[in-house]
Amino acid sequence: MKTKVAIIGAGPAGLLLGHLLRSEGIDCVIVERQSAAHILSRIRAGVLESVTTQLMHRLGLDARMNAEGMIEHGFNLADDDRMIRIDIEALTGRYVTVYGQTELTRDLMDAALDRGLPIVYEAGEVALHDVDGERPWISYVVDGQSQRIDADFIAGCDGFHGPSRKAVGDHPARTFEREYPFGWLGILADVAPCHPELIYANGPRGFALASMRSPTRSRYYIQVPQAARIEDWSEDRLWDELAARFDSISDRGVARGPALEMSIAPLRSFVFEKMRRGRLFLAGDAAHIVPPTGAKGLNLAASDVAYLAEALIAWFAKGDAAPLAGYEARALARIWKAERFSWYLTKLMHRFPEDGAFEHRMQRAEIDYVATSRAMQTAIAENYVGLPL
Ligand code: FAD
Ligand code: DHB
Repeated sequence: MKTKVAIIGAGPAGLLLGHLLRSEGIDCVIVERQSAAHILSRIRAGVLESVTTQLMHRLGLDARMNAEGMIEHGFNLADDDRMIRIDIEALTGRYVTVYGQTELTRDLMDAALDRGLPIVYEAGEVALHDVDGERPWISYVVDGQSQRIDADFIAGCDGFHGPSRKAVGDHPARTFEREYPFGWLGILADVAPCHPELIYANGPRGFALASMRSPTRSRYYIQVPQAARIEDWSEDRLWDELAARFDSISDRGVARGPALEMSIAPLRSFVFEKMRRGRLFLAGDAAHIVPPTGAKGLNLAASDVAYLAEALIAWFAKGDAAPLAGYEARALARIWKAERFSWYLTKLMHRFPEDGAFEHRMQRAEIDYVATSRAMQTAIAENYVGLPL
């Protein structure tokens, strides 16, 4: 098979890129390791910046998001029992949309066939070849049959563990990483949210987040030690913990119900500054990871592919190579700012096992400063709502 852009990975980055290219008539194929059902069973991010919702609007794929997504005009930072509301609309004139990654992915997957965007699911042994030449290609195996796609470009949108970053090679001097000594234990349940807006809480029992997917579906997370195992957490134990964190500060208190999903995600900051090798370009989690505090992961994947689509479109429409040459620098400028914000909010809101009383006092002083300074609140709000493209 021949195409213009072979895209590896059908997460938000690969799907958005595929649709953006197809909307300009550029042929592309997505090759994905998992089944469609598996992708739609992954519960991940929930907060969309306007950069992301505007891409869905531009693609004409925003009908369900507009109908079911929840506009959030503000969110809360809690320090023990003190709640600080960050009024993002008053501070920035903008807002964020609560709409799950799973739903966004579903909308993009459902529209793919109609828009001439083939997705090969359950492709094994995906490998990249000749990325330094003019005709790179990928190979993979489906139903025991070896397949090959020749392309003008390869887009590596295959997440943190995919083969694309490895195909760029080792670049230790351009690799930056920080692991955090804790993870997030999440639960999704069909119960009303405890509060009308999100709460990021720092308390003596550690960090906790009260989020939602709809007026009847809640998403909660708590900080757990890095070594925590999901088997050690019954639903009751988690609900007790959430009640201890949120009952005293939320409007309604925590309502309990059967878990639709429960999982633990590690927290990591990671940037691979080499986002291009020859005709291979990386986008999304393939090149960078943020800790989830601040909800930047999916939104960064969206801004990467907005830049990459623009550059590929300029190449195919006008033979202009300059935007492709500038992709890495342009993307990294935004990535580092989102890395900084996610790191900052992670440091501000979690209990670090290595921290002593002094560090905790510093956290409190910072939160106190946020509570009393419009300038600090504005800085947080403009990062939360998303920096401009
Ligand atoms: P992905 O969504 O990872 O998509 C990559 C795709 O490539 C996947 O479908 C994968 O199956 C496919 N792939 C991988 N290897 C291969 C291969 N060899 N061949 C072919 N295809 C391959 N962000 C937040 O903002 N808030 C959150 O609460 C949050 N929670 C998260 C929880 C978890 C467990 C994880 C892993 C991430 C979470 N994130 C969260 C981050 C956010 O989901 C990601 O930033 C976002 O999914 C990035 O999109 P992507 O398309 O770059 O990568
Ligand atoms: C959600 C996840 C986040 O990482 C975050 O910062 C806010 C909300 C969520 O899944 O709803």
